[in-house]
Order: sequence, then C-alpha cells, then structure tokens
Amino acid sequence: MNATPSSSDFILQVEHLSMKFGGLVAIGDLSFQARRGEITALIGPNGAGKTTVFNCITGFYKPTEGMITLNKRDGSTYLLERLPNHEIPARANVARTFQNIRLFSGMTLLENLLVAQHNKLMKASGYTFLGLFGFPSYRQASAESIELARHWLEKADLVDRADDPAGDLPYGAQRRLEIARAMCTGPELLCLDEPAAGLNPKESAALNELLMDIKNSTSILLIEHDMSVVMQISDHVVVLEYGRKISDGSPQTVRTDPRVIAAYLGVDDEEVEEVLVEVGDEDVIEQLDTGPDSAHGPGNSASMMAGPVSDTVEHADEGERVTVSKGASKAAQVDARAASIASKPQPAAKPAAKSSTAKAAPKKPAAKAPAAKAESASKGKEAAARPEAGKRGGRK
Ligand SMILES: Nc1ncnc2c1ncn2[C@@H]1O[C@H](COP(=O)(O)OP(=O)(O)OP(=O)(O)O)[C@@H](O)[C@H]1O
Ligand SMILES: [Mg+2]
Repeated sequence: MNATPSSSDFILQVEHLSMKFGGLVAIGDLSFQARRGEITALIGPNGAGKTTVFNCITGFYKPTEGMITLNKRDGSTYLLERLPNHEIPARANVARTFQNIRLFSGMTLLENLLVAQHNKLMKASGYTFLGLFGFPSYRQASAESIELARHWLEKADLVDRADDPAGDLPYGAQRRLEIARAMCTGPELLCLDEPAAGLNPKESAALNELLMDIKNSTSILLIEHDMSVVMQISDHVVVLEYGRKISDGSPQTVRTDPRVIAAYLGVDDEEVEEVLVEVGDEDVIEQLDTGPDSAHGPGNSASMMAGPVSDTVEHADEGERVTVSKGASKAAQVDARAASIASKPQPAAKPAAKSSTAKAAPKKPAAKAPAAKAESASKGKEAAARPEAGKRGGRK
C-alpha cells in the first residue's frame, strides 16, 4: 500500500507564490514542494523567475502573495515569508549561495568558513570582549568551529589550500568554497543558485560529487542551467517559464515534456513539432509558432524582463515606476498555452488516421522512443489540469 506523503515529508512547501515588480509578474501563482533528503532542481530559461523564488525563500524579497512553509526535522514549522530576514538562516536553518560568487576574497579559506559561524561564536562569548579571552564556552565553540571548517574543507577537497586567500582559488574551487561556507551554518535546506555556472566538465563532476554527499544530511534546492548536473543528481525537477510552472516531476518526465523542450531545452523546432504531431497536438504547434514573442523572450541576459516593458521608467519620489504595455504579460501567454493544452481531448480520443498526418519520420529515432514521448506529453496535460494545493494556516 502506498502511504500518502505528509507535510513533514516535505522540507519546503511553496503555495500560490507571486512576486510582482510594478506591472511585471516575475512569479505568478507558483506552487511546488521539495522533499526532505532530496535534490529539487528549479530550471527555466533566463528571466524565468528562478532567482526571484530564491530571494523570496531566503527573505531578500517579501512576496506579493503566497506561503512558503519550512518543516524542520524537529517538527517545528516556519512561514518564511513572515520571518524577519536574519532569522531565516538563524532559526529556520536555510542557507544559500548566490548566482555571482560572494566570498571574502582577501581572507583565507579557513577564515571564510569561520566568519560563517560568527553567530555561534558570539553567543558563546556572551557577546562581551572579555568573553573572547576567558569563557570556556567560547574556547569550546571556537574549537568546534575550526573542526567544522576543517570537515567542510575536506569534503570540498580544499584542505590543502586552507591558508590561501579565497581570491587565489580557481573558479570551480571558489564555487565549492561558497558551498562549504553555507554548510558551516548547519542548514537543513541549502539553496544553490547556479553553482555549476562557468565550471569545466572536471569541476562540474567534482561539484556533483560534493552535492551528492551533502544530500545525505541536507535537502537541496538547486537552480541550474547545466543539464549534465540537473539530470544526473536531481530527484525532482520544477520548470518555470515567465514566472509560471510549466512542468514538475522526475528528470525523465521533465526532459521529454514537449512544453519544456519548447521553452527551455532549445532543441530544433522541427523536433518539438515531431513530438507534438505524434501526440496529435497540431493546434499547439501553431501556438508555439506564433508566440511567445522572441524579441522579448528568454535571452542570454540575467536581466531579461518577463514582458515587453514600455520605454517608460520614471523616477518618482516614492521610487522607480515601470510601465508595462497592455497585453505584454508573457506569464499570461504561458497560462493561455497551458489552458489550451489542458482543454484538448486526450490523444487516444483522436482518430487513428491522425498519425498519418505526421511530417517526416523523426531524425533521431533512437534518442527518444515515440511511446515515451507520447506518454510524457499526456502526463504534461494531466499536470496542467491538476489543481494546486489548497492554502492552510495555523503555523508558527
Ligand atoms: N528587483 C527587481 N526589480 C525589477 N525586476 C526584477 C527584480 N528582480 C528580478 N526582476 C525581474 O524578474 C524576472 C525574473 O528574474 P530572475 O532573476 O528571477 O530570473 P532567473 O530565472 O533567475 O534568470 P537567470 O537564469 O538569467 O538568472 C526578470 O524579468 C527580472 O528582470
Ligand atoms: Mg537567476
């Protein structure tokens, strides 16, 4: 008998999360869950809203709407959107790394890892100067901090460089040091924003190994563009496009979902069409051909806007005001596309002769079994039609 997962099985529950910047919907009604002890990947094209989700989880932004619930191992539960920023790492035990490396480059590796533990050390000193010299609790905490730093330097394969300035490390090693520093805060949830960005294949492999090791003790939420990392180590993948969730499931399910292929993986349009023709979705193909508008769609810049914002950016007393032109919302286009897919009859209901309308035979028949594609596409439809989790209350 399959047991229904309870909320305590999930380290993180995001429900109906929205984040708006003026008229720009960076995240729209996003719900997903991350299971304890797993690596949950958050993927999507540039500007999809991934970092904004992290910023909401870690308190950098206060979401416009929605609930973010963290369930700790000891049974305590925190609503992160209500917690003051500094309490999110300290009380809820959520740690993060940033898309751009943020180390103390002039400090040694060991010092970087000790600074991360300053809360614990200050507490042990009784928050007094004299405490630094006399309190046995401080000496004990200090020895523990050095031991923890050594432990994570070893795990990150950086122990030989413990006394070097962090700025002298190669790029991949700096990424691992950032992760080691986050781990020194003792997190239950570790949020990593593109840890493999700019790494060579060898460094990527070392990163995969480190993350698989961390997973044994800490749940991971991972933003990553490098599919070799995502597909190899993730247990669960959530895909965003223009702030909306377009797919959610195992790496295998997500990689064959036509909407993900179309939105993110950047395969030939022809191949996307082949998948859709096989499942009888010619109407969807027409929609994919017409929109979203590539002039304002995903690009190679982290500052891509989710919709074509008009030229008007005013600086008023109350702050910056950005005007979004009417009908500009890409999120609305994603919603419309998902609704259209959901309202279509299932492929089985279509006449058998339909398959004869398929264009050329797939170029790479061995790469993806058509049956698997059709199955995944129908799963995608179910997902689009599935209602989101309801709201709950009564937590800390
Ligand atoms: N502080 C902000 N003010 C205004 N718009 C913002 C702000 N932060 C993010 N955005 C916008 O929200 C959208 C989502 O940005 P976000 O950085 O979350 O995307 P991303 O998926 O992390 O992209 P990338 O893969 O390039 O890092 C973008 O259109 C971005 O310009
Ligand atoms: Mg980002």
